[in-house]
Amino acid sequence: MKYSQKVLDHFMNPHNIGKLENPDISATEGSPACGDQVSIDLKINPKTLVIEDIGFQSYGCASNIATASIITDMAKGKTLEDAKQVTWKEAAEELDGLPPAKMHCSVLAVDTLRKAIKEYEISHGLAKAEAFSKLTIVKELKQVIYPKVGEDIVSLKMVKYVGFKEGVATVDVDVPSFDQYRENIAEEIREHLKQFPEITKVIVTL
Ligand code: FES
Repeated sequence: MKYSQKVLDHFMNPHNIGKLENPDISATEGSPACGDQVSIDLKINPKTLVIEDIGFQSYGCASNIATASIITDMAKGKTLEDAKQVTWKEAAEELDGLPPAKMHCSVLAVDTLRKAIKEYEISHGLAKAEAFSKLTIVKELKQVIYPKVGEDIVSLKMVKYVGFKEGVATVDVDVPSFDQYRENIAEEIREHLKQFPEITKVIVTL
């Protein structure tokens, strides 16, 4: 697997690494694809809502560390509103690209940052917790990356149907029968959706 020089630089000398003292908010996310984890701490100016300091801890691969490093650089000094607009694609571009099979690592870093921002906003009355709906499932499926091309399965129009009734989430995905990532995608969908307490069963049809 070939990494850009920038990935290697951030992996060897990660920026913003470590826990912050008395952070205003912390969040941890795990990647269903590989089991790796990232934690992010934020210090936020309550008046300007600017991220004044940020620190991360990573329990994962080189891309995990490199993307957490770049994402914390990108978020530092931004308002919460601007920081949550940072996308995993921008993070990967900032690193001069990631191998397609490693794109989920940048999703993990961005997800963790967004989770921390969301939790700060909810705890400070700046946002309301979203009611769970079918849309929540579709949003979550945008975090599932098709490793062959490094794009998410919703943008690639591989998701043909999403249903949610009485705790059962049904997802119909179009993956060719000969595709080597078929089972991998189904497993990742199940892992992503299992984290919602509203979902008691996940049915994936390929
Ligand atoms: Fe696990 Fe990269 S392989 S985050």
